[in-house]
Amino acid sequence: QQDIYSKGLGGEKPLVPVDFHELERQGCDAMSPEAYAYIAGGAGLESTMRANRESFDRQRIVPRMLNDVSERDTTVNLFGRTLPSPFMLSPIGVLEMAHGDADQAVGRAAAAEGIPMIFSNQASQPMEQVADAMGDGARWFQLYWSKSDDLVRSLVSRAESCGCEAIVVTLDTTMLGWRTRDLDLAYLPFLRGKGIAQYTSDPVFLESLKNPSQPGNMARPKLSLETLKTLKQIGQSWPGGALDGISSGRAMAAVQEFIAVYSKPSLTWDDLKMLRDHTRLPIVLKGIQHPDDGRKAVDYGMDGIIVSNHGGRQVDGAIGSLEALPEVVEAVAGRVPVIMDSGIRTGADVFKALALGATAVGLGRPWVYGLAIAGEAGVREVIANLKTDFELTMGLSGCKSISEITPEALRRADL
Ligand code: FNR
Repeated sequence: QQDIYSKGLGGEKPLVPVDFHELERQGCDAMSPEAYAYIAGGAGLESTMRANRESFDRQRIVPRMLNDVSERDTTVNLFGRTLPSPFMLSPIGVLEMAHGDADQAVGRAAAAEGIPMIFSNQASQPMEQVADAMGDGARWFQLYWSKSDDLVRSLVSRAESCGCEAIVVTLDTTMLGWRTRDLDLAYLPFLRGKGIAQYTSDPVFLESLKNPSQPGNMARPKLSLETLKTLKQIGQSWPGGALDGISSGRAMAAVQEFIAVYSKPSLTWDDLKMLRDHTRLPIVLKGIQHPDDGRKAVDYGMDGIIVSNHGGRQVDGAIGSLEALPEVVEAVAGRVPVIMDSGIRTGADVFKALALGATAVGLGRPWVYGLAIAGEAGVREVIANLKTDFELTMGLSGCKSISEITPEALRRADL
């Protein structure tokens, strides 16, 4: 904190804007229009994105005075690790759209700040490479449950081997939401082979490319002539990157195969048993919004929950994430940690989520903009700013530690 203020007083401008709106604006300038639309956009009219913010605006902090907050402890314990601040980086796919250094830059920044990074299933770089870049920094792996159980097991085993400390299963994206900005720009990164590095580095996936009869290779999707033409063009002029070293024909096959296996809309609670048997790592379900689903997660032996609406990118009209949080917390009744994301922009937001019962929060778009503007250093600065903002808000609200942040600190305001 001292650092941040003394830099400012010395006339040294921050590397990335402190104010979120300015951060987003400069992030936009640093990216292609397609990349910005993909990252900033949500589903439909983006009413859930707005609901996320409104749910924070509706909660107001009532600070308490004269509590001696000279010593402040922002640490929190999660799955056996002590985190310096109650947050982690939510999984974000296709980071190459924001910056060429992509996942590795983010991994180094997270490790340097001591907060966990959740590797995305749709990462731009294979998890092993990112893990290498992180030293002993904490990482988790996020899974999109594939149609191929063999691929699911392979991804989870790789996550174990590269030191991931939890498996996050994202439940809210069995199909991509109705992303209006991307549809209007006719831009879906995956169709261009971006964000499929976890697949093209996976032995089970590569095997299924060789041999169409393998279980990983389900019925090929019926692609329109137009899509096939696009894939062919992409295959022919492959620029390298995620599919480096793979011939253009195989690149096309990889994209097609990815589309065929990527998600499993028929996923049900019973599928989780297979994962429970396969891994000893804590399993965290991401995308829970209803209290009954929270209760069920505990009944099915899950170790944690992330209350999230995917940053408003899936069901437009869905409940604001902070608004959904208290009922889920009540249903779970302290049996497993409840993390929340979607809409966190400031230290006050983190404080409000904790007051309503979250153990920690996930950060999304803000650090992606930091990445776009200034790479690894930009991500670090966004994290460092949020740490300081949170610590100040906690202290100024009269709390010395996270356990002192309770629902009593909030009042609901009409908007
Ligand atoms: C995401 N999110 C996401 N979630 C996930 O489980 N796997 C993924 O690959 C992605 N990819 C992804 C890409 C982009 C560009 C965005 C913005 C989001 C959702 C993410 O983990 C998190 O839930 C939201 O980002 C939280 O909302 P805010 O705070 O970013 O508004």
